[in-house]
Amino acid sequence: MTIPIIELRNVHKTYSTVAGDFPALKDINLSVNTGEFLGVVGKSGAGKSTLLNMINGVDGLSSGEVLVYANGQRVSVHDLNEDEKALWRGRTMGVVYQSFQLLPMLSLIENITLPMDLAGNFKPRESRERAMELLRLVELEEHAGKLPAFVSGGQQQRVAIARALANDPDILVADEPTGSLDSVTADHIFDVFSHLVADRGKTIVMVTHDMGLKSRFTRYLTITDGELEPPSVEDSKPKRSRKK
Ligand SMILES: Nc1ncnc2c1ncn2[C@@H]1O[C@H](COP(=O)(O)OP(=O)(O)OP(=O)(O)O)[C@@H](O)[C@H]1O
Ligand SMILES: [Mg+2]
Repeated sequence: MTIPIIELRNVHKTYSTVAGDFPALKDINLSVNTGEFLGVVGKSGAGKSTLLNMINGVDGLSSGEVLVYANGQRVSVHDLNEDEKALWRGRTMGVVYQSFQLLPMLSLIENITLPMDLAGNFKPRESRERAMELLRLVELEEHAGKLPAFVSGGQQQRVAIARALANDPDILVADEPTGSLDSVTADHIFDVFSHLVADRGKTIVMVTHDMGLKSRFTRYLTITDGELEPPSVEDSKPKRSRKK
């Protein structure tokens, strides 16, 4: 059974720049079902981060609509005001930003407990224990007390992943979450994501410029110059035959 959890309807995003208007997303229509691990692949500048920012409401759209069905609610994301959006996002969606966006004055573990304390789903003691578990999951527990500036970019990225999982959200949207990781660590993160989808019923939308990762998603789409395309027939053939 397919149950839609995210729907984009005729989404356009135009950036206004000194050089004029730039259409970064052109009439995007997309339905993501519960329990999908959807990959969106595309070259640099294709519009991947812009697309994720439309789904999580971090940036406003120019026209169209984004609907999210989660926590028993149907939410039109861009109809919420900023406070409502922040609260809704905290409860519904974990976000891994391309630039990590850890808070520099907080230790790694505090970066993870903060969203839990804001959402109020866990008592402070529980949130610390859970944050430690998440740090263990991304193999960073021995660095819990350090500030972000004192760990590597790849380690910061793993903290950003742990933080996105803090409130156990139904949906994870992740922008190049393995971009700074070595292949072994990236594999481990993929395993963690696959487990969340297959065993916990979570839904993940992940963007990457690494075309080599396509086969690891339950479905993938290509974005080119702000337009979404399904996989070519040639591309989807080997995957289908492998599954038989
Ligand atoms: N704030 C902005 N103002 C103006 N143009 C922007 C802005 N953000 C992005 N763009 C432009 O929109 C297009 C899509 O950008 P986006 O960041 O979504 O690409 P991307 O696919 O995520 O690229 P990358 O793989 O390099 O992260 C690019 O041409 C970019 O230059
Ligand atoms: Mg990007």
